[in-house]
Amino acid sequence: MMNPRPLCFGHRGAAGEAPENTLPAFQRALELGMDGIELDVLRCRSGEVVAAHDLTLRRLIPGHGRVKSYTYPELKTLDVGSHFSPRFAGERIPRLEEVLDQFGSRMWLDIEIKGRSIRSDGIEEQIVRLLQERKLFENVILSSFNPFIVRRVQALDSRLKVGFNYLQDSSEPLRKVWFRSLALPFSLHPQPAQVDQAFLAYAQKIKAKVLPWGVNEPAEIQRLLALGVDGLISDYPSRLQILVHK
Ligand code: G3P
Ligand code: MG
Repeated sequence: MMNPRPLCFGHRGAAGEAPENTLPAFQRALELGMDGIELDVLRCRSGEVVAAHDLTLRRLIPGHGRVKSYTYPELKTLDVGSHFSPRFAGERIPRLEEVLDQFGSRMWLDIEIKGRSIRSDGIEEQIVRLLQERKLFENVILSSFNPFIVRRVQALDSRLKVGFNYLQDSSEPLRKVWFRSLALPFSLHPQPAQVDQAFLAYAQKIKAKVLPWGVNEPAEIQRLLALGVDGLISDYPSRLQILVHK
């Protein structure tokens, strides 16, 4: 039997085509027929969960500091569109709630929870509550590089799907350590170079889907399609639209 068409996700919305983690980036992914979006989330000083990738704003707005040091009313005044292009001047950092309300019932959401600490700042509980209030369980994956975050999410509500993110240098033994201490994930999110037959066999053994992220080069998209991955997460939804939806 043919595999179903792989799920197509826009990474940080559509980071190669619009300012990352903004509503226009998510909208672009939707308009280009993506099945879902990946977004990164952090908690700010006044407690709201916001869509942002780095712990500091420096890369997007020179001279600006940690997301955690701003209240949401302060964050809302900042322009996170101009760094990408003057066409997006004035775009702002959205709250997770807005993303859930605008896109949660229309697409898959892969919500990547950022955070390096072993201890929680309360973000998991807050996200789980936002999802429960909206009854968003079916098409949501909560993912992280941090195994403690994933473990906490799953302990809060076992109905939620969780995903493990990998960097190219996280070795096979490290992956197995994760699994020894955690419940089984819905999906594994490796970098493209990590994905081969052996990786797919490993995922199949633990019944997890394989959704590589950062899949941007057409040749890589085609290689992963031929291998039979379950989905692709790309900065360029328009490339997935051409190569996967053809
Ligand atoms: O999907 C996982 C991927 O988003 C992890 O990388 O650094 O872009 O959040 P990063
Ligand atoms: Mg991410």
